Amino acid sequence: MKALLDQARLLDQEDELASFSKQFVPGNYDIYLDGNSLGKLPKKTIDRIKTTVEQQWGAQLINSWNAHWLELPKRLASDMEQLIRAQQGTVYVGESTSLNLYKLVLGLLLSNRYDKNLTTDLLNFPSDNYIIEGIAQQQGATFHLLHYPTFLEADLQLLKAHIASNPGIVCLSMVSFKSAYYYPVKELNDWAKDHQSIIVWDMSHAVGICDVDCQKMEIKAAVGCTYKYLNGGPGAPAFLMLDSEFQDGVGNPIQGWFGHQKPFEFDLEYVEDSSIDRFANGTPSIISMAALEIGLKISLEAGISSIANKNKRQIQFLIEAVKKELLAIDYELVCPNSMERIGGHVSISHPHAKAIVEVLKSGANNHPSVLPDFRPPNLIRLGVASLYVSYEDLIQTVTFLKTIVVTKMYKNVKAQNHIVP
Ligand SMILES: Cc1ncc(COP(=O)(O)O)c(C=O)c1O
Repeated sequence: MKALLDQARLLDQEDELASFSKQFVPGNYDIYLDGNSLGKLPKKTIDRIKTTVEQQWGAQLINSWNAHWLELPKRLASDMEQLIRAQQGTVYVGESTSLNLYKLVLGLLLSNRYDKNLTTDLLNFPSDNYIIEGIAQQQGATFHLLHYPTFLEADLQLLKAHIASNPGIVCLSMVSFKSAYYYPVKELNDWAKDHQSIIVWDMSHAVGICDVDCQKMEIKAAVGCTYKYLNGGPGAPAFLMLDSEFQDGVGNPIQGWFGHQKPFEFDLEYVEDSSIDRFANGTPSIISMAALEIGLKISLEAGISSIANKNKRQIQFLIEAVKKELLAIDYELVCPNSMERIGGHVSISHPHAKAIVEVLKSGANNHPSVLPDFRPPNLIRLGVASLYVSYEDLIQTVTFLKTIVVTKMYKNVKAQNHIVP
């Protein structure tokens, strides 16, 4: 372990992104590996919220809509377009991922461009599958839920064969929330196009950590959240992306006044906005948007290629350390074999995972406190948010994980039943 720790410290010294961790509030834990569920609070966000609340809401009141707020969703959309390299005018920011997925999939279905097959798979986030199944039931479309031989990765042959024989709208999580499986996005988009289908990508676990280039990867439709690697804060507004080639004929199935061409003329008739802003519904959540702008700017400043490169190196380093130190003591790696196919986080399992996580959180003599993610029944997700996670953090965590099992520290813990696991 000493050699790994020395190596980690060396890598941290050479890390061009190392100083970014200072931009975040440290929090109550020495090491935070939960960035793939909720990113850290940027220090600048505190002042930004204060200004939004005190000076804008408090002092300027309703005038703030014209002076500051109406432009905010558009600025966020433009930042997001830059981050995911989407064409200008293809991103909308607002609401939750769930709602955006509903609007996008239903909008595509109602456009009648595709056969009425809605496909998803078991690697997808369960809530996405609830939504897709619900749309299928409401619209009389056929719902297909693909099962693969393992939960670790997609069976691409099976997926492609399914699309070829059941063309339509497919929804996939770009990076799977459990195993971190990162789909070959371009390859599948090309396949979908050749088979009269479209893939709606849920980028929640990829955005801000994987080097996604919507144009190069031929991504035509996507949604995603911003409270994970983009550090937008709890319940931060999500985003929706629809390529301009599809905007004709794909409307917002929830016709609200903010999707109207002229919302403040209060027309009796609904006239849909011609831009991507048609996917808006009601009043934007300004305080959350103000927070998100700070998170987005930090990622843009660091540069997504640098973040993604560091993340790949860290994931490799972590996996090697896990293989060397933990596999002999009943931990298992729950991730794809190929580094190419892993995005953002590393999942490991252990029969005593729940109690192990409780010990990690408490810290111990000579061990820093570590906050990872626990997913039932026995999964420990180590989210490597490379903007503020160091190589040393990873080795300290592996060292602690080893000590907990070797010394059976987990036996002293009464596992807690939290509502959020
Ligand atoms: C991959 C993925 N999709 C969708 C969601 C749901 O997002 P929201 O709660 O913003 O609707 C989550 C939430 O964690 C997620 O991880």
